[in-house]
Amino acid sequence: MSIQNVKLKICSPRHLLTLKEFTSTEIIELLDVATHLKKFPSKYSDALRGKTLALIFDKSSTRTRLSFEVGMFQLGGQSLFLNRNDLQLGRGETIEDSARVFSRMIHGIVIRTFSQKMVEEFAQYASIPVINGLTDMYHPCQLLADLFTLRERFHKLKGLQVVYVGDGNNMVHSWLIAASMMSINFKVICPKKYKPNTEIFQEAQVIASKNKSLIQMTHGIKGALAGADVVYTDVWTSMGQEQERSKRLKEFKSFQINQKLLKETPNAVFMHCLPAHRGEEVTAEVMASDRSLVWEQAENRLHVQKALLINLLNNDKLKR
Ligand code: CP
Ligand code: NVA
Repeated sequence: MSIQNVKLKICSPRHLLTLKEFTSTEIIELLDVATHLKKFPSKYSDALRGKTLALIFDKSSTRTRLSFEVGMFQLGGQSLFLNRNDLQLGRGETIEDSARVFSRMIHGIVIRTFSQKMVEEFAQYASIPVINGLTDMYHPCQLLADLFTLRERFHKLKGLQVVYVGDGNNMVHSWLIAASMMSINFKVICPKKYKPNTEIFQEAQVIASKNKSLIQMTHGIKGALAGADVVYTDVWTSMGQEQERSKRLKEFKSFQINQKLLKETPNAVFMHCLPAHRGEEVTAEVMASDRSLVWEQAENRLHVQKALLINLLNNDKLKR
C-alpha cells in the first residue's frame, strides 16, 4: 500500500480545534495513514519538504512538542518552537495580526494554551491550518493517538467500553467527542464536584445515540468498572490548577486506579495520556503492569500526528 493509495481527502476543514472538524470516516482514514507511516517510518522523508510548522506553547509539554518536532523532521520539513513571551503576542500584538503574519511565512501552527477561544480566534484569522495542541477544554491530538492505540490493540473501535476515572477535564471532553463520533461506549466516573462540562456531555449523548453507543456518568467508583475494555485516567490537577493541588489530592483520594480496583475488570487495558503522578491517580504497579498501554500511547502521538501533518500541510496552498 502506498500513501497515495490511502486516498487522503483534501481536508476542507483545515484546522484541528476540537476533533469535530473531521468526520468519523476521515478519522479512520487518518488512522490508516498512521498505520502505514508507523510500518514504513523512513518512506516519506520528503512529504513535507520546504514546509515549516510553528509551535506556540504557553504550557509545558514533553510528548506534544517532541512528536510534532520529530514528526516534521522525519517528513522533511522543519519546526519552530516559540514561547509566547518571546513573541510580540506576549507584548500585546493581537491574535488577529499575529495569525495573519504567521500565515505569510509558515505552513501550519500548533498552539498549546489555556483558552480554547484563543486557538479558535487564531484559526479564524489564519489562512494556514491551526492545530490545537491542548487547551483547558480539549486535547484532540491525544485522542487521535488513543484511538490509534486502541485500534492496534482491539482491531476495532466500535462497541468498545471505555471507563474514565478521575477529573472531568480536557481529556474527558475530548473523549466525549471521540467516543460519541466513533461509536465507543464511554463512562465517566468522577466526584460530583468535578464533572465534565454539561453542554459537551449532553451533546456527546445526542451524537452517541445516533451512532448507537452509550455515554454515561457516575460518581461512585465501587463496582463501576465491570465490563470495561479500557480503564483510562489522567492527572487530578491539570496545568493551570496548581493552586488547587492539595484540596484535589484529598477530594480524589478514592478515585485511584490500583490493582485492587482493576480486579473488577480482569481483561481491561490501562491507559493514561501522561504525564502520570504515581501514588495519586494511578499506582506504580498499574503503570508497570502488562495491562498498561501508556508507552504505546506516547509513541503513537508521533505516527498519528505525522498523518495529520501530511493531511493538513501537504494540501495547503499558501494564501497571500
Ligand atoms: N499527553 C501529552 O500531551 O503530554 P505532554 O503534556 O507532555 O505534551
Ligand atoms: N489534563 C492534563 C493533560 C496533560 C496532557 C492537563 O491539562 O494538564
